[in-house]
Amino acid sequence: MHFFHLLICLILISPIWSLLPPDDSSCNNQCFHQPPEACPSAESTCRCRRLPNCQKAAICCNVNYFTLKEGLACGNITAVGGIESLHIRNATFESFNVKLSNSVWRNLRYMTITDGNISRIDGEFAKHSRISCLNLSSNHINAIEDRALGTLYNLSILDLSHNNLTELPSVRKESVTLDISNNTNLICSKLTNTLISRPEIIFISENQTFCITTKDYDWFQSADILPFSQVKAGHELQKNCHRNCTCKIDRYVSLQGKSSTYQVAVNCSGKKFLSLPVPLPDKTISLDVSHNNITSIKEMSDPSYENLRWFFADDNQISSIQPLEGTKFISNFDTLSLSRNRIKIFETYVLDNVEFQRVSINIRNIYLGYNKINCDCNTMKLKAWLLSKLSHIPDHDNIKCDNINVKVTELDASKMCQSSQDWTDYIYYIITAEVVLLVGLITKVSYDYWVFKTAGYLPWPANKMPRLPCDWLCE
Ligand SMILES: *[C@@H]1O[C@H](CO)[C@@H](O)[C@H](O)[C@H]1NC(C)=O
Ligand SMILES: *[C@@H]1O[C@H](CO)[C@@H](O)[C@H](O)[C@H]1NC(C)=O
Ligand SMILES: *[C@@H]1O[C@H](CO)[C@@H](O)[C@H](O)[C@H]1NC(C)=O
Ligand SMILES: *[C@@H]1O[C@H](CO)[C@@H](O)[C@H](O)[C@H]1NC(C)=O
Ligand SMILES: *[C@@H]1O[C@H](CO)[C@@H](O)[C@H](O)[C@H]1NC(C)=O
Ligand SMILES: *[C@@H]1O[C@H](CO)[C@@H](O)[C@H](O)[C@H]1NC(C)=O
Ligand SMILES: *[C@@H]1O[C@H](CO)[C@@H](O)[C@H](O)[C@H]1NC(C)=O
Ligand SMILES: *[C@@H]1O[C@H](CO)[C@@H](O)[C@H](O)[C@H]1NC(C)=O
Ligand SMILES: *[C@@H]1O[C@H](CO)[C@@H](O)[C@H](O)[C@H]1NC(C)=O
Ligand SMILES: *[C@@H]1O[C@H](CO)[C@@H](O)[C@H](O)[C@H]1NC(C)=O
Ligand SMILES: *[C@@H]1O[C@H](CO)[C@@H](O)[C@H](O)[C@H]1NC(C)=O
Repeated sequence: MHFFHLLICLILISPIWSLLPPDDSSCNNQCFHQPPEACPSAESTCRCRRLPNCQKAAICCNVNYFTLKEGLACGNITAVGGIESLHIRNATFESFNVKLSNSVWRNLRYMTITDGNISRIDGEFAKHSRISCLNLSSNHINAIEDRALGTLYNLSILDLSHNNLTELPSVRKESVTLDISNNTNLICSKLTNTLISRPEIIFISENQTFCITTKDYDWFQSADILPFSQVKAGHELQKNCHRNCTCKIDRYVSLQGKSSTYQVAVNCSGKKFLSLPVPLPDKTISLDVSHNNITSIKEMSDPSYENLRWFFADDNQISSIQPLEGTKFISNFDTLSLSRNRIKIFETYVLDNVEFQRVSINIRNIYLGYNKINCDCNTMKLKAWLLSKLSHIPDHDNIKCDNINVKVTELDASKMCQSSQDWTDYIYYIITAEVVLLVGLITKVSYDYWVFKTAGYLPWPANKMPRLPCDWLCE
C-alpha cells in the first residue's frame, strides 16, 4: 500500500526533477569539458554561447584571435557575466596570449582549451586568477612560456596531454595533478629536473607518458624514447642508495631492440669508508669512492659490480689490484683510477687479457700516479708495460718510485738490474780490509825486525813461532 504510493510519487516527481535548474556538478566534475555537439550551431553568427544546461558555463568553438574576441562579446561572456567554466574548442592561434581577455579568465575556475591548433601559449594569467583546472590538451602546443601559469595559485589539475611540448612550464601550487601524456618530444633530462625540484607533483596517465633522451645523455648519441616509468624509477634511486652515497642516473641507453633504460652513477667520495659499498644499485656503471680509507677492492667481484665501467678510487689505502683478476669489471672497464693509493707492486698480469685498442666508444684509461711503487729490477716489467700503454695512462709522469726519486718510465735497467751490485759493494770492503791487514802486517814485520836488530830478541808472537826452513834468510 505504502509502497505503491511511493512509486506513484516517484513517477510523478521525476519529470519535475529534470525541469529543476541543473546542478553545477553535472557539468563540472573537477574540470569542465563539453562535447563538440555543445558548440553553437553552424548557422549561429556568434562563435560562443552560454550553456543553458550548466550554470555559469560557456563554450566557444572554431575560433581564432578575432572571432574569439567577437564571440566572447556576442555570447555575453564578460568580466561581469559571472562565467566560471569555459571550454574553447578548435582554437587556431599562432600564439595564444593568456593576457588577452584576462578580465574574463580571472573569474574562471575551470578553463578548457582543447582540440585546436595553437603553437605557443604566451603571456601570464592575471594575479589572483581562480582557475583550479586548466585543460590544454590536444592543441599541438610546442611551447608554454615559463611564467604563463606562475600566477595560478589555485591550480590543482593541469592537463597538457596530446601536445608537442619539450619541457614543462613552472607551476606555482604544490601537489598539482599533471597529465603530460602523448607529448612525444618531451626531453627526459628536463623531466628528471622537474621530478627533483617538484617531488609533490602527481603525474597521471603515466603509461602513456614518454620522453626522449637527448644527445647529452645518450650513450649512442641518438635520441630514444623512454617510458616515464623508467625516468621515475631512476629518480627514485636515491631513496634506495647506499648510506652516505648519492645515486643518480648517469645516462639513458638504448638497448638493441626497442626498449631503453638508464644507467646509474654512485658517488661515495670523501665519506670515510673503510671498504667498498656493497651491493651497488642495479645498473651501476660508475662508482666514485675517492678520498676514503679503503684498503682493499676485493668487493669488486660482487655481482652488483658487474656493470661497472668507471671506477674512481683515488686517495685511498689500496695496496693491490690483484682482486680485480677475473672480474667483469676488468673486461668492461673504461676508467680505472687508483692514484694516490698504497700500491707497492702493480700486478700487470691482471690486465694481461685486457684489450686496450678497442675500436669502440671510449678510450680505456688507467690512473696510477702518486703510489708507493717499490722499484727494483722487477719494476722493469712495469716500465715496459707502461711504455706500451702510454696513451691509456694519462698520468704516467706521476708514477714514481717510492724508494728512489725516479719516474718508473725512466728507470734505467742497467742500474736496477746489475745482479752483482750488492756484491761489488762487498768487494770494496774486502779490498779495504785486505789493504789494512797488509799494511798492518808490513808494519809489524818492520817493527819486529827493528826490535830484533836493536834489542836482539824477537817480540811476541814471532818468538813463539816454530822455526821454518826459510828462517835462515833472516839470520
Ligand atoms: C576548426 O576551425 C576552423 C575555423 O577556425 C574550421 O575551418 C575547421 O573546420 C574547424 N575544424 C573542426 C574539426 O571543426
Ligand atoms: C549578460 O549576462 C548578464 C549576467 O549574467 C545578464 O544580466 C545580462 O542580461 C546578459 N545580457 C544579454 C544581452 O544576454
Ligand atoms: C595549424 O595551423 C597552421 C597555420 O597556423 C597550419 O599550417 C597547420 O597545418 C595547422 N595544423 C593542423 C594540425 O591543423
Ligand atoms: C581553490 O580551489 C579549491 C578547490 O580546489 C576551492 O575550494 C577554493 O575555493 C578555491 N579558491 C579560490 C580563491 O577560488
Ligand atoms: C582535457 O581534454 C581532453 C581532450 O578534449 C580530454 O580527453 C580530457 O579528458 C580532458 N582532461 C580533463 C582532466 O578533463
Ligand atoms: C614538435 O616539436 C618538435 C621539436 O620541438 C619540432 O621539431 C616539430 O616540428 C614539432 N611539430 C609540430 C607539428 O609542430
Ligand atoms: C597517444 O594516445 C593514444 C590514445 O589517445 C594512444 O593510443 C597512443 O598510443 C598514444 N601515443 C603515444 C606515442 O603516446
Ligand atoms: C601501466 O602499465 C602497467 C604495466 O605495463 C600496469 O601494471 C598498470 O596497471 C598500468 N597503469 C595504468 C594506470 O594503466
Ligand atoms: C656517514 O657519514 C657520517 C658523517 O660523515 C658518519 O658519521 C657515518 O658513520 C657514515 N655512515 C656510514 C655507513 O659510513
Ligand atoms: C662525486 O662527488 C664529488 C663531490 O661530492 C665530486 O667532486 C665528484 O666529481 C663526483 N664524482 C663524479 C664521478 O661525478
Ligand atoms: C683515514 O685516513 C686519514 C688520512 O690517511 C687518517 O687521518 C684517518 O685517521 C683515517 N681514518 C680512519 C677511520 O682510518
